Amino acid sequence: MSMFKPHINQMSPYTPPLEGRSQSGCLLLDFNESVVSPPSQVSDALSSFIHSNRLQVYPEYGNLTELIGNYAQVPPGSCLFTNGSDQAIDILMRLVVNPGDNVLLLSPSFAMFEQAAQLEAAQIHEISYNPDFSFPYAEFEKNLGATNIRLAVIVNPNNPTGTPVDSDFIQAMVSRFPDTFFIVDEAYYEFHRETSSSLIAEHRNVAVLRTFSKAFALAALRVGYLLGHSSLITELEKVRGPYDVNMLGAVGAMAALKDPSYVSRYADEVMNQAKPMLIAYLQSKGVDVYAGRANFLLLHSSDPPSTMDSLRQQGILVRRGRKVASSMVRITVGPVSCVEKCIEALEKCL
Ligand SMILES: Cc1ncc(COP(=O)(O)O)c(C=O)c1O
Repeated sequence: MSMFKPHINQMSPYTPPLEGRSQSGCLLLDFNESVVSPPSQVSDALSSFIHSNRLQVYPEYGNLTELIGNYAQVPPGSCLFTNGSDQAIDILMRLVVNPGDNVLLLSPSFAMFEQAAQLEAAQIHEISYNPDFSFPYAEFEKNLGATNIRLAVIVNPNNPTGTPVDSDFIQAMVSRFPDTFFIVDEAYYEFHRETSSSLIAEHRNVAVLRTFSKAFALAALRVGYLLGHSSLITELEKVRGPYDVNMLGAVGAMAALKDPSYVSRYADEVMNQAKPMLIAYLQSKGVDVYAGRANFLLLHSSDPPSTMDSLRQQGILVRRGRKVASSMVRITVGPVSCVEKCIEALEKCL
């Protein structure tokens, strides 16, 4: 008999194609990260911490929670920082889901939800995005009504499709199904600028997830956070360890929040200049595009592996969509200069 829990024994690890990327010299348009480094306010704070004779000491987070709460404009006690939003997903599943509970997920979406639900031995109910990549509103609502769903996930906007979800719909579901816990993942909030954070004051059955990995350009530091009712935060503090976020992550996030104007400048250039430029170019070439509402888009390819290969040979990494998006290639959009390089390379493979 295996020493390990059978349901974990049967799982596969989530292994995104990470290795070798950052040293490849390629333009990294494959993980929806920021394409530029964070400003010196962050790197200076990190190097001064490294030289402050505190690496041997356990973390002291100071007012990080308060800084995040102010940035997210939520009442005191409504915020918990985590080791990437991946950890927020994990601790929410651990808190809410019992073995055999029904978990409602959409597909294709961010893989860690399925992984974390499987770890809790959940019964996963998967519904597909529509063929036009729109959110399957009626199907989602029908599943909530028909099955005893313990936890449902809404990624707004979704990865990899970029699909936005109507805020009024989210509010209606959270109100109508008080026995279902809703995770609203807003990893791309800074690009989309729509949030369900106002729900947390009144509803105990919802958490909003955000991250420093995307628009804040701090993916390597692994800091995310969740917003929720203070009673939810109190429970989650028992699940997250006291030192789960390392001190460099905390220092980087604090430095970023001292002046987060670089984040909105970046998001503004990506969403209002660079992305429209890339969309206009692709449309001029007759390529089908699904623009979505985040810092990436999907373009149709009759042969995705060969499009990806051709871009790689020209020094650009991108990802292929999955499931209903498998005939699409997902390209992260950076600033205008990055899109110019991208267009130059696409010119040779479209
Ligand atoms: C929708 C979504 N949620 C969460 C994450 C993970 O973010 P983090 O780096 O904070 O763990 C990602 C990363 O790609 C994502 O796309």
